Amino acid sequence: MMKTHKIAVIGATGNIGREVLGVLAENSVPQDQVIAIASAKSVGDEISYGEEKVLKVQNIDHFDFTRVGIVIFCTPQAVIEKYLSQVRSAGCLIVCPSIAEQFVDKKEYVVPEVNGALLQQSTAQIILTPDPGAIILSLVLQPFLKTGVIEQAVVTLLQAVSGHGREAMDELFNQTRGIYMNSVVQHQHFTKQIAFNLIPHIGSFDKDGRTSEETNTIQQTKQVLKSDFPLEITCVQAPVFIGYAATVTLNLAQHINSAQARKMLEQTLGVSVIDHRRDEGYVTPVETAGEQAVFVSRLRHREKQISFWVTADNLRRGAALNMAQIVALMQKASRVLESRSVH
Ligand SMILES: NC(=O)c1ccc[n+]([C@@H]2O[C@H](COP(=O)([O-])OP(=O)(O)OC[C@H]3O[C@@H](n4cnc5c(N)ncnc54)[C@H](OP(=O)(O)O)[C@@H]3O)[C@@H](O)[C@H]2O)c1
Repeated sequence: MMKTHKIAVIGATGNIGREVLGVLAENSVPQDQVIAIASAKSVGDEISYGEEKVLKVQNIDHFDFTRVGIVIFCTPQAVIEKYLSQVRSAGCLIVCPSIAEQFVDKKEYVVPEVNGALLQQSTAQIILTPDPGAIILSLVLQPFLKTGVIEQAVVTLLQAVSGHGREAMDELFNQTRGIYMNSVVQHQHFTKQIAFNLIPHIGSFDKDGRTSEETNTIQQTKQVLKSDFPLEITCVQAPVFIGYAATVTLNLAQHINSAQARKMLEQTLGVSVIDHRRDEGYVTPVETAGEQAVFVSRLRHREKQISFWVTADNLRRGAALNMAQIVALMQKASRVLESRSVH
């Protein structure tokens, strides 16, 4: 048995941390089973837990991790790297965003609706939640891989600034306001002006011209789907606060028309098809905020090619919900945790 079902959420004051608390409360996880943790500057702050309850934020540096069974990291990489060995030594199961190779023996990315069964057998102490783009793509590509072969998938992924945390959201806000006030545009998080613009560059470039964000999204999507099909993604930073969106074009081995594709996607857990060929008959990123589904619109076909538009809330569906679902599966599997001996 897990030593305790108590859950510590590190980074509880951030965008994702708050969403994680929201999902846990919606799933009726009792308030006394959840501990909100952040940096020293947030200690004592009160964070909403559901509609009526609050949690007092505790200091990560004074927290005894042997008190909890599960830790969810919702913090920048540097914070995960700093505290990971302490949390591991306390024998906690850990859910966190992707981390560098040297911190995990094996990278196990989980999207519960796609490969959640992995958690039944896994002995890994750290389970990774993929980046939002990989979660969205693995959910919508899954039915096409189940029924046949994807010969090639080409994706343009439009990413909201909240994918980089609060300071990046502030940068979009301040630039937008500044441009209206004729001030000089300052950029720190983004390589160029993001307000009123699109930037086809997230992360660092490799020798083939791909960015690290593109390579990570491709690798994570293929790992979750357990399939090495040709997948090309262009990641573009968009001046949107919340909600990732993608255009997806699939070349398939067999002929599937848009009505068949619609049916396949409608039957896929976590996917909602809203596709009416008229004004407002499709979903845009703004409408996804706070929603749990991945929304597919603009379905069409040409011979063996299917194209569509997909959008979802990156903070909720693309991070918090996924992490909360992983935790629920871990608890259901009643994972045996022998502290320090589990990798
Ligand atoms: N946003 C997305 O779509 C997305 C999706 C998947 C993964 N991620 C990753 O998840 C991480 C968090 O994203 P976010 O959008 O929630 O960021 P955020 O809004 O900037 O929040 C960061 C959180 O980390 C905490 N923190 C910072 N330094 C800390 C320290 N030294 N000790 C303890 N806590 C510390 C902050 O606490 P204080 O308030 O006390 O500073 C805050 O709660 C990012 O690294 C991001 O790469 C993001």
